[in-house]
Amino acid sequence: MTQDEMKQAVARAAIDYVVPGEIIGVGTGSTANFFIDELGKIKDSIKGAVASSEATAERLRAHGIAVFDLNDIDALSVYIDGADEITPQGAMIKGGGAALTREKIVASVARQFVCIADGSKLVDLLGNFPLPVEVIPMAQAVVARRLTALGGQPRLRIRDGKPLVTDNGCYIIDVLGLKIQHPAELEAQINDIVGVVTVGLFARRGADIGLLGTAEGVRRLTF
Ligand code: A5P
Repeated sequence: MTQDEMKQAVARAAIDYVVPGEIIGVGTGSTANFFIDELGKIKDSIKGAVASSEATAERLRAHGIAVFDLNDIDALSVYIDGADEITPQGAMIKGGGAALTREKIVASVARQFVCIADGSKLVDLLGNFPLPVEVIPMAQAVVARRLTALGGQPRLRIRDGKPLVTDNGCYIIDVLGLKIQHPAELEAQINDIVGVVTVGLFARRGADIGLLGTAEGVRRLTF
């Protein structure tokens, strides 16, 4: 089974968590894209979706799925998204696709977070994948110094020779070299740095369910 086939398998399995007649929170990235394609097949059974990025909103609309503004929604039954790393406890690193802030916002109003990923994303210790941190552009240098003091090696994310600009008009710093023993504590610590918009650690509100693609099929974890 290829990595894409595993992503497709977990995307299909995630349809079981979609509540008919409701609005679904939808994440960003290649696995989330497979999920959107599956959601398109059952679009008449849901009311619509809240998107965690402009790219996701565009793909949802291309499937004829109504996209709602989060400001018009009180709660979501489920948020379905991928991850860059996930632990056996359901803590995650996210933001490889630069959508971490909107992902965290949409996830925060969902009763259930279903993480869909290929099995290679399951790790005992977070930090091998560089930790994304979204920052206000004018604070980039000072935040980078604070992240260095925490033991990381910050790198401004560059796209086409320029700093990558997120959907929120901000920059991303990727932090290398962290071995994250206490994800919830580090999440709070980095969020407290002035100039940080969001850190891509999802530990204080981690996943509730993990659907992981393996050669033997979809492995379901409950956290
Ligand atoms: C997007 O910002 C991320 O949080 C994604 O969920 C994460 O990078 C996983 O992406 P893939 O599904 O493409 O691996």
